[in-house]
Amino acid sequence: MRFQRNIIITGGAGFIGSHVVRLFVNKYPDYHIINLDKLTYAGNLANLKDIENKQNYTFVKADICDFETICQLMEKFQADGIIHLAAESHVDRSIKDPFTFARTNVMGTLSLLQAAKLYWEAQTEGYEGKRFYHISTDEVYGALELTHPEGIKSGHSAHRVYGDDFFHETTKYNPHSPYSASKASSDHFVRAFHDTYGMPTIVTNCSNNYGPYQFPEKLIPLFINNIRHRKALPVYGKGENVRDWLYVEDHARAIDLIFHKGQVADTYNIGGFNEWKNIDIIKVIIKTVDRLLGNPEGYSSDLITYVTDRKGHDMRYAIDSSKLHRELGWEPSLQFEEGIEKTVQWYLENPEWMNNVTSGDYQRYYDEMYKGR
Ligand code: NAD
Ligand code: TYD
Repeated sequence: MRFQRNIIITGGAGFIGSHVVRLFVNKYPDYHIINLDKLTYAGNLANLKDIENKQNYTFVKADICDFETICQLMEKFQADGIIHLAAESHVDRSIKDPFTFARTNVMGTLSLLQAAKLYWEAQTEGYEGKRFYHISTDEVYGALELTHPEGIKSGHSAHRVYGDDFFHETTKYNPHSPYSASKASSDHFVRAFHDTYGMPTIVTNCSNNYGPYQFPEKLIPLFINNIRHRKALPVYGKGENVRDWLYVEDHARAIDLIFHKGQVADTYNIGGFNEWKNIDIIKVIIKTVDRLLGNPEGYSSDLITYVTDRKGHDMRYAIDSSKLHRELGWEPSLQFEEGIEKTVQWYLENPEWMNNVTSGDYQRYYDEMYKGR
């Protein structure tokens, strides 16, 4: 079958990537979607069970750092688009093992860029109709100050804002963690490939995502799972750090829109104008899980355990996504209360997914299943 487009999505077995793959496979039957993933601890093909047999979907197990293989895959699939999500993504892991982050996030991105460059420049039409879309994070901008520790109501937000500044597309990069430093470096390489070779690149920087299929080392799924098992909830420092939360399907919708309509060489910030102090979000999670499990209100509050703060813990992230709204009409579709309800419900209704990822069983199973493919 000849497809209208052939798009490689890297990291498609991870949290955000699986939502992007699902959206593209279902929405664009004329596109061939190639999910290229190494299946690290964070990659899980069970995230894509519902679409794995679709005609326009192919999974390839590969490492983005393996330049030769990526060159062959570009050619084999005649890729005309790349949506690049594969990365090491957890700040705490980057503090313990920065080398893996530099390897995957920096060298892996460079390997993809160079493979795309060689393949696309060899085509008669060159870069015409091609797109290299790099998914990045707001953490590259550094940290904002908590100038309003109690939060103030803002015109922007249904919720509170905790400072006077926001991250804009023009905010200077100032990463603090090895994770954000590696993502910042990869963003620079992507822009350099546009400025040097004319590659049609786009970079977006998004705030914290939440929703189904997130690996339970990140705050929201970790805490839902711990509450379910009556385990301690480790709150870093005083729980006063602020994050700006976006429901993952809203991020996937933004990626779809920007991939098709975004300006080449441009940058878009993606966020929900939805700032929460960690301790407040934790209270919402406790309340929601307890209610859905039929526990009395406040039943799990005793699990809150203040622990030593994360090293170099960024105080506040808050994204100004008004450019994306103004230029492409995107806005989040879900209010936070609705999103968190859906999210908690999903984790409680899918205990086997959680058991598999926490035991590592899914990796052995899928290694067997995909052997030789
Ligand atoms: P994740 O950790 O859930 O998934 C990462 C995926 O990449 C996994 O499937 C993993 O197997 C794959 N991968 C890792 N190394 C690889 C390699 N060398 N070769 C091929 N595949 C590899 O991550 P996520 O939370 O879904 O984040 C996806 C992207 O979005 C990342 O680039 C991240 O920086 C960015 N981002 C994440 C958030 C967030 O809140 N999670 C916010 C903004 C931006
Ligand atoms: P996380 O989900 O790791 O995302 P990020 O560090 O990329 O923002 O953490 C979200 C916030 O929650 C962050 O301020 C750190 C904090 N946190 C805890 O307090 N306890 C935890 O066990 C975890 C994983 C995070």
